[in-house]
Amino acid sequence: LNYNVGKERRYIMEVLFNGLRRLEYRGYDSSGIAIDADLGSSAEEEGGTPYTSPLPLIFRREGKIESLVGAVYSEVDAIELDLEKLFMVHAGIAHTRWATHGVPSPRNSHPQSSGLWNEFLVVHNGIITNYEVLKETLIRHGFTFESDTDTEVIPKLAKFVFDQAREVGDQVVTFSQVVIEVIRQLEGAYALIFKSPHYPNELIACRRGSTLILGVKSLTDTKNYAKSFGDVQSLTTDCQATELFFSSDLCAIVEHTKNYLAIEDNEVVHLKDGVVSVLKFDYNKEKPASVQRALSVLEMEVEQIKKGNYDHFMQKEIHEQPHSLTTTMRGRLKDKSVVLGGLKDHLKTIRHSRRIIFVGCGTSYNAALAARPFLELLSGIPVAMELASDLLDREGPIYREDTAVFVSQSGETADTLLALEYALSNGALCVGITNTVGSTLARKTHCGVHINAGCEIGVASTKAYTSQIVVITMMALAIGADKLSTQSRRESIINTLPDLPDKVREVLKMDDQMKDLAKSLMEMQSLLIFGRGYNYATALEGALKVKEVALMHSEGMLAGEMKHGPLALVDEILPIIVIATRDACFSQQKSVIQQLRARKGRLIVMCSKGDAASICSGGSCRIIEVPLVPDCLQPVINIIPLQLLAYHLTVLRGYDVDQPRNLAKSVTTQ
Ligand code: G6P
Repeated sequence: LNYNVGKERRYIMEVLFNGLRRLEYRGYDSSGIAIDADLGSSAEEEGGTPYTSPLPLIFRREGKIESLVGAVYSEVDAIELDLEKLFMVHAGIAHTRWATHGVPSPRNSHPQSSGLWNEFLVVHNGIITNYEVLKETLIRHGFTFESDTDTEVIPKLAKFVFDQAREVGDQVVTFSQVVIEVIRQLEGAYALIFKSPHYPNELIACRRGSTLILGVKSLTDTKNYAKSFGDVQSLTTDCQATELFFSSDLCAIVEHTKNYLAIEDNEVVHLKDGVVSVLKFDYNKEKPASVQRALSVLEMEVEQIKKGNYDHFMQKEIHEQPHSLTTTMRGRLKDKSVVLGGLKDHLKTIRHSRRIIFVGCGTSYNAALAARPFLELLSGIPVAMELASDLLDREGPIYREDTAVFVSQSGETADTLLALEYALSNGALCVGITNTVGSTLARKTHCGVHINAGCEIGVASTKAYTSQIVVITMMALAIGADKLSTQSRRESIINTLPDLPDKVREVLKMDDQMKDLAKSLMEMQSLLIFGRGYNYATALEGALKVKEVALMHSEGMLAGEMKHGPLALVDEILPIIVIATRDACFSQQKSVIQQLRARKGRLIVMCSKGDAASICSGGSCRIIEVPLVPDCLQPVINIIPLQLLAYHLTVLRGYDVDQPRNLAKSVTTQ
């Protein structure tokens, strides 16, 4: 964050805290902030600093952001800092953490420091893979380390580079020169922001692999500014009335500005007194080149990132699904065909592929699994499923003749992105399916489809899941568009798709019923969910929701495998949900129900409207009755009661719905 308009310190801190609140869904085990102080004179009296500008003030806390906020205000009051003090230019940084190296604790939180006097401060998203070597070298040069993080080598390296430059001559070393020298030595993935009292009123940001956004707010003429961005002459003038924001995510800047720049790999963005300059750096070249970049305009409304009348984001996002599905389909169903602009030039290549491979993690993987049978049916091409981490572990074969489809809500999941690099290097056509415009996945794939579900904030993915299924289903319809044998089936699905949001609305009315079911299950240790065919994925995804938010052990199982092990678990206590809506697997599922009943299983059956009586005849069971839709769309309907169940179980069990223990929405590290 960098200001060059007169603002009170309190306002500056509030902007930083609000930014952290918006990013908290990505990690929330500890946080920190560094702001400028105006303690220059008192610090000098205490023994002198190595520079004349004010010392930065740093606060770091374990736990959620509000614990940092509370601590900062009480400490600020204790040191009699004038909160109303006006800053014409101020450079502040803040960070919320999801621990990778080192337990959550103040000393492992960011900003990480170069040591005494905090000459260099860094916040970091990503992982530095060669930190151990760098650390050893720095220790040999007399540095001592306080944290267990990989990040700490970065500010220490900056200090080392800075001191060396000063030793070799009297030429002034600029902030960007220091940073470029540092990043030349870093391996791994990072989005970094540097702050230093040697360079007051300046910030430097750079990235490799991890997303970083610059938001530009002009209080005068945003349009002209956007046009002239990159032109140093007019930039200098225009920037005089601007607030500038760096963030890992657009969510944190949307309330300030819609003008943004997605910083590219190996770009170093330098803010100095509110003026922006972008340098492109090349490992092989001595001098970085100055580049011009145009700003993009963000298509996101602030309402999307607010809870509205709901208690939790997850609840809001579940109930938003009629709307999110409508926007997913908007403009894409035309006459009797599906038009996916981002794919149309590649359909021929996809149709000729030897194999289609889906790659994803968590819910995104499950969405692809739900849509797989339909894609196989319409394309006639073998469709393989890969969990991104497993594909990488095995280095599974991928060929030039393959189409690899990467599914990711955030478009930033590290495992998925690494698998993408791997598939690109093997020459496969790479397709992206993501909810995040401008994400790394969207930028690095050859082509793709945005699911347009709107910003998803609850850590447990809900609306993105249903939109992903619909997008992959539409993709199957587009790929199979030239096949006569499946024409009538295709047309019937295309005709039904527009009704899907209304069917979802109907299922959402089961909210109270699912709350009652949650009450009856809340004390349970475990919950099993059996599905097959189109709804094997529903079983996996329902169980994933229950375990990730309600912190209850839950397993989704392929019903066809029941007698090969899981049946041993069945007793009168363990609750089992069986998904038995009407499709080609219905009769097999009825026999599963019989077998479970014969072992006195505690059954909850999800069935199509009108089937309850026949399914329950001859024994007692709880019923979840859902509307019937064509088989390939049924997973969109069937997951909704399970999302509601997971939500209510979480609230009843007293856990945090939107920020479940130990998890993060977008896992940007391996
Ligand atoms: C994390 C989240 C999951 C999500 C998965 C994949 O584990 O907690 O909810 O499904 O990442 O995320 P992506 O953004 O790639 O879909």
